[in-house]
Amino acid sequence: MIVLALCGSVREPSSTRLAMNTALDAAAAAGAEVRWPSQALSTLPFCDGRRGEYGEAVATFRAEVASANAILIGSPEYHGAFSGVLKNALDLLEEDALRNKLVAVVATAKGDAGAMNTLNHLRHVVRWMNAWVLPAQVSIPRASERAATGEFDAELTKELAVLGQELVRYGRLLANPSA
Ligand SMILES: Cc1cc2nc3c(=O)[nH]c(=O)nc-3n(C[C@H](O)[C@H](O)[C@H](O)COP(=O)(O)O)c2cc1C
Repeated sequence: MIVLALCGSVREPSSTRLAMNTALDAAAAAGAEVRWPSQALSTLPFCDGRRGEYGEAVATFRAEVASANAILIGSPEYHGAFSGVLKNALDLLEEDALRNKLVAVVATAKGDAGAMNTLNHLRHVVRWMNAWVLPAQVSIPRASERAATGEFDAELTKELAVLGQELVRYGRLLANPSA
């Protein structure tokens, strides 16, 4: 069971990355092999409308997505949606790249309202790419402030851990439908 992590934030430290790592720790404890792309998503070229080859970096990224059974996608909310870096990475994938894969989504925001719009945009886009999306999701309001100590409070940590565990549990079912 391979879980690939795609993060829409490029900065460090990143509350989104902390949230993802919290969920991924639980995924690893549940038996998954957790991977990050070998190249930062921000170093990939822009999708220019072609659907074919984009060189070695994109070929490697596509292969890393293809080798995963499940994907955790995290993004900061930027003007009510997910980040452009993440959208570009998804645009570089073929339209069937996520077929038969389970995706879980988590998003962070500065505001009190959280990142529900970002989660809904992510669901919409990955469904368009034929992914299954886990019903559970995590929206994190006031994310940077809550991540300032380097770990989230116990309640949020638990919520993220359950997301990681469910990604592995249901990702396994999707990977082995006869099991
Ligand atoms: C261009 C831009 C747009 C943003 N738009 C929103 C927004 O619409 N709503 C919100 O609550 N926060 C917004 N934020 C704040 C980020 O969502 C928030 O700081 C996020 O947690 C950053 O995640 P990171 O620490 O992983 O980079 C925006 C930040 C940037 C840079």
